[in-house]
Amino acid sequence: MTDTPTGKSIGRKSIRPTLKPRALMTDAPDIAGAWTAQIITLFPQAFPGVLGESLMGRALKDGLWQLQTFDLRDYGIGKHKNVDDTPAGGGAGMVLRADVLEAAIKDARAGAKGVMPILYLSPRGKRMDQAMMRGLAANTNGVTLLCGRFEGVDERVLEHFGIQEVSLGDFVMTGGELAAQALIDATVRLLPGVLGNADSAVEESFSNGLLEHPQYTKPAIWNDRPIPEVLQSGNHAKIAKWRQDMSEKITRERRPDLWDAHKKGGKIK
Ligand SMILES: C[S@@+](CC[C@H](N)C(=O)[O-])C[C@H]1O[C@@H](n2cnc3c(N)ncnc32)[C@H](O)[C@@H]1O
Repeated sequence: MTDTPTGKSIGRKSIRPTLKPRALMTDAPDIAGAWTAQIITLFPQAFPGVLGESLMGRALKDGLWQLQTFDLRDYGIGKHKNVDDTPAGGGAGMVLRADVLEAAIKDARAGAKGVMPILYLSPRGKRMDQAMMRGLAANTNGVTLLCGRFEGVDERVLEHFGIQEVSLGDFVMTGGELAAQALIDATVRLLPGVLGNADSAVEESFSNGLLEHPQYTKPAIWNDRPIPEVLQSGNHAKIAKWRQDMSEKITRERRPDLWDAHKKGGKIK
């Protein structure tokens, strides 16, 4: 693997973080076998963004995963590189054009290897959850992510390419880029070798269908609040039981839906 730019190709970039933020935007060769996130976006400069930091950035640099952006503007129509137009039937805002999206999607898919679903980040989509991220990490070689803007994308593109819609939550953002970054972060951290401590993905929230127990660290007493005594007892069986009890209590109180599923004996969907 190298950080050295390998020459530009219009609309396509692989991104590697280096120590200098601007150098993040460089081309790089394809890394055989690395989990690949392809992003179709009007704002390629938004990537890697926070994905270039900490463990994710290290893993990107180490070639455990790779990132390619496809700048929708490069596929725009005419002198002004138009990517959108008014909604058929009238109404507010603009819609990303089917022909522009098609060109970008075809370009991305030409480089897609193995199992790589195309997902459209959309408030109408299936809500993202840990099970979805586990599935993407375990069963795919990457994803092609389509980030919408304005009023969204021409519906025919979703039908034509069989694109699944996935949502970050029941709220509306101005674009799909943040949702794409959330999906990538939550998936890539589950790839082998990305987390420093392999246990951290096993014991955290959702991994066993429950929310995580509270965590504490030094100082032992802070603002008159001591760390629960049991955690300082050194008795590992008691600590494990306390953590399990707290996990169950918090899940029961905060997420009755998860608690019901847990009681029925399954992990979360
Ligand atoms: C302003 S939104 C469009 C909303 C669309 N007109 C609607 O009502 O469903 C622009 C883009 O932001 C992205 N977006 C907004 N909210 C999102 C969410 N909750 N999850 C994922 N993507 C979202 C989508 O890519 C969408 O095309």
